Amino acid sequence: METAHIPKQWMRWIQMMMRGDRDSATQYDLRGNVALTRTDAGIPTMNFGYWRDVAPTAKDALWAATQALFQLVGETAALSERDAMVLDAGCGFGTNARYLAETFGVQRVVGLNVSSLQLEACRQIARGSVRAAAINFARGSATCMPFADATFDKVVSVEAAFHFPPRQQFFAEAFRVLRPGGTLALADLVGPAPQNTWQRTAIAMLCRALQIPHENIYDLDVYRQQLADCGFVLCELRSIREDVLTRYQHWLFHQPVGKLLSLGMPMMMSSAPFLLYPWDYICLKAIKR
Ligand SMILES: C[S@@+](CC[C@H](N)C(=O)[O-])C[C@H]1O[C@@H](n2cnc3c(N)ncnc32)[C@H](O)[C@@H]1O
Repeated sequence: METAHIPKQWMRWIQMMMRGDRDSATQYDLRGNVALTRTDAGIPTMNFGYWRDVAPTAKDALWAATQALFQLVGETAALSERDAMVLDAGCGFGTNARYLAETFGVQRVVGLNVSSLQLEACRQIARGSVRAAAINFARGSATCMPFADATFDKVVSVEAAFHFPPRQQFFAEAFRVLRPGGTLALADLVGPAPQNTWQRTAIAMLCRALQIPHENIYDLDVYRQQLADCGFVLCELRSIREDVLTRYQHWLFHQPVGKLLSLGMPMMMSSAPFLLYPWDYICLKAIKR
């Protein structure tokens, strides 16, 4: 991935952030290329990871935790070779699509993203896979998917639905593109409604800076209701906050100062959401009946 233009892109992104520019495709193209955190193996990652069995001092701990999060969502969706079509909504750099094809043996996985720069990286990452032929990508929004009704057996999304404008429209679209009996499995950040002036200010800043639609900030009761309103039957929903956000923070504090400085802004941006606001982080499974 091209890194030479990163300082210039950061400047453009910061300018957009200050202006509150809402052109989401452009924002994600900028962020997709600049706000990445590379693991020790040089793999770009865009999620906090699942740290339950990963020690912060382990070798390439961030990549291990990222894969553990993919594994958790794949297991929650009960993915297997029997799944003919699986959608990964908000697919980042395509590492989850590749992981699901290689680890669970699904017949075909399609990664969907609004960012064309990230999709370029996705295709490059998929080309290196022994399952390359089973991995495809499409450009589009999870709230207006370029797929026919009842295309997919399973829809998964890792740490992306809180960005979708609005998330409930994604639930409706996931329901539409799933076959009857199909499964939706998510790892998602849930920002409860702010309780005081400090939280209101913090969430307003975060929504603006990280392109999180303000209408996605609500409690779990509303979250459950929105799923039900779209026709989903919720099978399981649990908080994995401790094993994601808290333990990510532990990992961060174990990093040598030199590494933190070199990761700089991307690291700060990826850490900010949980330092400034009392997010919950959930894993859920719902079925289209
Ligand atoms: C925090 S990243 C997570 C990426 C990936 N799932 C992972 O875990 O590595 C959120 C992703 O959602 C994508 N995204 C944001 N809004 C989107 C939308 N409306 N439709 C599809 N993808 C979107 C972003 O471009 C980004 O790749």
